[in-house]
Amino acid sequence: MDKLRALVVDDEPSVCEAVKAILELEGLDVTTTISSVDAVEMVRKDSYDLIVSDLKMPVMDGLQFYDKVREIESDSIFIIITAFGTIPSAVDAVKKGVYDYIPKPFTPDEVRLPLRRALEKKRLEQENIALRTQIETRYSFQNIIGNSPEIREVFRIMRHAASSESSVMVTGESGTGKELVARAIHSNSVRARKKFVTVNCGAIPEGLIESELFGHVKGAFTGAVADKRGLVEEADKGTLFLDEIGELAPQLQVKLLRILQEGEFTRIGDTQPRRVNVRVIAATNRDLKKSIAEKQFREDLYYRLNVIPIELPPLRKRTEDIPLLVNHFIDKHKVKVTEKNINGITKDAMQALMNYHFPGNVRELENSVEYAIAFTAGPTIQKEDLPKYLSEERKLGEEGRTIPLMPLRDAKHQFERSIIMAALIESGGNISEAARLLHIHRQNLQQKVRLLGIDLESIAAAK
Ligand SMILES: Nc1ncnc2c1ncn2[C@@H]1O[C@H](COP(=O)(O)OP(=O)(O)OP(=O)(O)O)[C@@H](O)[C@H]1O
Ligand SMILES: [Mg+2]
Repeated sequence: MDKLRALVVDDEPSVCEAVKAILELEGLDVTTTISSVDAVEMVRKDSYDLIVSDLKMPVMDGLQFYDKVREIESDSIFIIITAFGTIPSAVDAVKKGVYDYIPKPFTPDEVRLPLRRALEKKRLEQENIALRTQIETRYSFQNIIGNSPEIREVFRIMRHAASSESSVMVTGESGTGKELVARAIHSNSVRARKKFVTVNCGAIPEGLIESELFGHVKGAFTGAVADKRGLVEEADKGTLFLDEIGELAPQLQVKLLRILQEGEFTRIGDTQPRRVNVRVIAATNRDLKKSIAEKQFREDLYYRLNVIPIELPPLRKRTEDIPLLVNHFIDKHKVKVTEKNINGITKDAMQALMNYHFPGNVRELENSVEYAIAFTAGPTIQKEDLPKYLSEERKLGEEGRTIPLMPLRDAKHQFERSIIMAALIESGGNISEAARLLHIHRQNLQQKVRLLGIDLESIAAAK
């Protein structure tokens, strides 16, 4: 790390020298000046981590100097040196935002201690900023949490999608975050300031959806008492999110295709086509290829929508994201019960969550955490606080097949990954300890961790 830089300002050269000597012993790179006017220029040209200034100086006193410095920058730690008689004004200075004051005459410790405190504070602040940006950039996209190779690949495609105008097709099981992804793409795109309009193609009754989507003119059908804009027009210049696109009736698929191909549609009962400029993001948890084969879904529409495909992996295929998600959901939901002072989750409870197969994916995980927060006595969530079915043995064959059918090689991979994750969680991310638990060599484990793309930092997040 570079040396921290300090500027010492005092009209008495001997004081400058004394402070300089102490600061240099603390490892700082020190510049001095006897003129506060010169000092302002120096602050303008260079940046200093620490500024130590006398309070009483000719031309510009320490407080005026402080004000000037703050007009230029706000990051440096500012400490005032003050003679005994002026301590009350030094106290005022601290109220104004000066970090601390040193009485004059001073012993080396009287300079060193506030300095160390100040530098520690600065270091913590910097670490915090670094940590925050690290968490924001590495473990999330907007508020989508995860750091598994699978989810990082999703983030990568999302960034492309956000900087493009092409249609996006988000696929994935229920609760994997399809809507979250669609919103994040919109709010990172050039259309962010315009509307994000959601149409749930499965939830609107068949007889209504056409008029909901495309609007109608007065008298188009019984009950059409006035002209009405549809959701497509609502989304003009913004993003139209077509959720459960697989449920859209075939005659509406044609109309949607026309919007995608020509940017045109017609309100029900109208003769004039209208133009719209919408970016379409569609989502489905159905296998559209199958719907195409069954002639339920138009192939030409599929290809128009599937320009940027985003496949959200089920949670059971990225169990290493569970600790990050659990901590995220604890932070999100603990505010409802501040009196419990919830501070985390035990290893046992985390392990139980990691072992469960989460058919409802992230939504189910979030619900489980919320449940535990409601039922725990606090402050730490115990395994017993989780919904009971999470810890029940998964009995094969009893409720049909609980393990999805997949190539044996993938299954082995998945199993290996989850058992290694379990050991790493138990060891708090310590490889040697985890290797011991698994009865394998440390090097062997290290290699597997690398091959399986397991991220140790995200594991260390579990308490
Ligand atoms: N990676 C994630 N990080 C944080 N929260 C997530 C993540 N994925 C999903 N969630 C949360 O899980 C819940 C379900 O997400 P969402 O509604 O986007 O899923 P979906 O795929 O659209 O589900 P469905 O198919 O049932 O409509 C939401 O509360 C969402 O905030
Ligand atoms: Mg959804």
